[in-house]
Amino acid sequence: MTPILSATRITKSFLHAGKMTTVLSGLDFEIAEREFVCIIGSSGCGKSTLLELFAGISKPDSGEIIYQGKDITGESGLLGYMPQEDLLFPWLSTLQNVLLPVRIRGGNLSHAKAKALELLPTFGLDQHSGHLPYQLSGGLKQRAAFLRTYMTGSNLLLLDEPFANLDALTRLQLQDWLLEIKDRLKLTIVMVTHDISEALKLSDRIMVMGGSPGKFIKTHVPKSPHSLDTDSMEEIRLELMSWL
Ligand SMILES: Nc1ncnc2c1ncn2[C@@H]1O[C@H](COP(=O)(O)OP(=O)(O)OP(=O)(O)O)[C@@H](O)[C@H]1O
Ligand SMILES: [Mg+2]
Repeated sequence: MTPILSATRITKSFLHAGKMTTVLSGLDFEIAEREFVCIIGSSGCGKSTLLELFAGISKPDSGEIIYQGKDITGESGLLGYMPQEDLLFPWLSTLQNVLLPVRIRGGNLSHAKAKALELLPTFGLDQHSGHLPYQLSGGLKQRAAFLRTYMTGSNLLLLDEPFANLDALTRLQLQDWLLEIKDRLKLTIVMVTHDISEALKLSDRIMVMGGSPGKFIKTHVPKSPHSLDTDSMEEIRLELMSWL
């Protein structure tokens, strides 16, 4: 596999209450173009930290991140990053929220607006471009956040628990929708989730994270993608429990 994104020997520490804590140590990761990888692991093991490093929001203490053959360590704005709490601004319409990152980075707004208008139907938002967030359902808000993420221009999306706050039915609908747009828009996806069945349904490969500092402890390839595989669920659950 030729990776489109890779991370090599990543180490990251934080200073907290006067003490340095190593959150990630010597971590390696690779993803191929158009692959869907889910990262699953106990709370606090460093999943969001890892996505932030990929997104260039913060820099690793050591190690490098390579995207399309180029060292992008510490560079932000290159990959589509959807943080754990990706909130829409309540006073901005769907379209204004979607265009906000382009406005902030001083990009070509009329070009971005034309692109966003063209994409609104794909994201199920064509009837909602002028609505304020309070007028949108949870699922629609999340679709708007997805579109905002995709507007970075990268086909590689880093999604941090994108369905965590949705009701079960909306969650299932958005999972199906995500698989559909992944094919349609030729996306590569790295997604953090706490939901083992979601990871089994969506991904080509599951990376299980654990320990402190966090590392990858297991790779799991779903036997039958997009279906509920109870044996795998139990296997991953036991693996996660053993690291708590
Ligand atoms: N900016 C920061 N300063 C200090 N400590 C931090 C910072 N960011 C993260 N940490 C610490 O790093 C560890 C990993 O945090 P991280 O948010 O990556 O965990 P996570 O695996 O995403 O957890 P969750 O599943 O709860 O979202 C935690 O102990 C957290 O407190
Ligand atoms: Mg997190």
